[in-house]
Amino acid sequence: MSEIATRGTKATNDIKDIKLADEGRRRTEWAERSMPVLRQIRERFAKERPLSGKRLSACLHVTTETANLAVTLQEGGADVALCASNPLSTQDDVAAHLVKDHGIKVFAIKGEDHATYYEHIRAALAHRADITMDDGADLVGALHMIALNRLDDLAPPVRKWVETLSAADRKAIVSGVSGSTEETTTGVIRLKAMAKDGVLQFPVIAVNDSQTKHLFDNRYGTGQSTLDGIIRATNLLIAGSTVVVAGYGWCGRGFAMRARGAGANVMVTEIDPMKALEAQMDGFRVATMEEAAKVGDLFVTLTGNVEVIRVEHMRAMKDGAILANSGHFNVEIDLAGLKQTAEGPKEVRQFVEEWRIGGKRLFVLADGRLINLAAAEGHPASVMDMSFANQALAAEYVVNNAKKLSKDVHRIPVDLDQEIARLKLQSMGVSIDTLTPAQRKYLASWDMGT
Ligand SMILES: NC(=O)c1ccc[n+]([C@@H]2O[C@H](COP(=O)([O-])OP(=O)(O)OC[C@H]3O[C@@H](n4cnc5c(N)ncnc54)[C@H](O)[C@@H]3O)[C@@H](O)[C@H]2O)c1
Repeated sequence: MSEIATRGTKATNDIKDIKLADEGRRRTEWAERSMPVLRQIRERFAKERPLSGKRLSACLHVTTETANLAVTLQEGGADVALCASNPLSTQDDVAAHLVKDHGIKVFAIKGEDHATYYEHIRAALAHRADITMDDGADLVGALHMIALNRLDDLAPPVRKWVETLSAADRKAIVSGVSGSTEETTTGVIRLKAMAKDGVLQFPVIAVNDSQTKHLFDNRYGTGQSTLDGIIRATNLLIAGSTVVVAGYGWCGRGFAMRARGAGANVMVTEIDPMKALEAQMDGFRVATMEEAAKVGDLFVTLTGNVEVIRVEHMRAMKDGAILANSGHFNVEIDLAGLKQTAEGPKEVRQFVEEWRIGGKRLFVLADGRLINLAAAEGHPASVMDMSFANQALAAEYVVNNAKKLSKDVHRIPVDLDQEIARLKLQSMGVSIDTLTPAQRKYLASWDMGT
């Protein structure tokens, strides 16, 4: 457990080393160059202060791009607390920069253990937010366990803290949240399940459902950065190898495209016949995991589902096969099963662990956690520019509309989504045509031109 516990619950940050701030500032400024849409929003926020007086708790990967979002929210008037949404994805220099140069409350240390991770979630909850921002629904999940009095389902650091609060105070922490935003597919799936069960306590904006988010972040961002993480972790030559991609959704499509671009023979596994057909038509070989297990050199899961690669598959794999995950949680490769069955792990290189199973060696990258964030730097800034433009506008939308919104999962309005695309095109120097009056009339009528 980190020092925060010994410094008491009033600590305003818990980071690795404040002396890293200068490097964090330099890298955050570099990312900012590629974030023109967020920059324009920041300039407007600084003038209009739409988040003035609002406390905002964010649970996001603490990267240079997130730093630019956090500063944008602060410029908009919000009092921001930030914790990590993954124990391995924090960039410690960025955390230091946000604390030192902006006074933002950051609770995140790369490689933090399970207890510290949840101690940091507790600190973000204790910020008593008006708005929460999640990447994987950790904050909203904890708030709902508090609301439903399911304290046994809270991680111990959060549970112990909640137990010290009065019933009225627990209620206030949840009822104080006017709305939330969610970044990723996995979080949105959980939130939709909560809304379906009628337990969602406040409206949530599914940033992931914006086209300017999932079309670009999940596809182009995950596609490139997953390959980047695998190459950085292994220094593997992708050309000529057989890469098995589990899941042909937004992320899987992006990664399959980039793996093929790097010269791999790409196989796809799916459970959805439509996606499988699309993968086949896109020129990939579609197979079951059982079939693919025998021939793959590198296996990458991007499904958002559990136990996609199981022990029976691992047993069938070739000696030296490499396994990585880029889905949100480290549940896609059955590591618990592997631990019970195989010998290991032996660290052979940073982020690479060797396991021995049935006389063969398998290599698991980054303990099955998001490889693009663990071993690389996550998505390039120009992709996060659009995702985080959505986050900033979603926070403003919550402030302006929370009272009118039902306790459900909502999309950001289409016109805001299109505005982000328009600003992005503008920043790239790309102009597009507009409808002529005749075209507008034609598209709206049923009796012309037949
Ligand atoms: N690495 C990153 O930076 C990053 C970025 C965005 C999203 N994500 C995460 O990646 C995951 C996938 O996101 P997405 O937007 O592509 O979702 P998606 O819903 O578009 O795609 C997931 C696909 O996996 C398939 N699938 C489910 N179970 C499967 C199984 N057992 N075997 C094979 N295929 C299976 C589904 O049919 C679907 O086509 C989520 O967990 C999401 O949160 C990660």
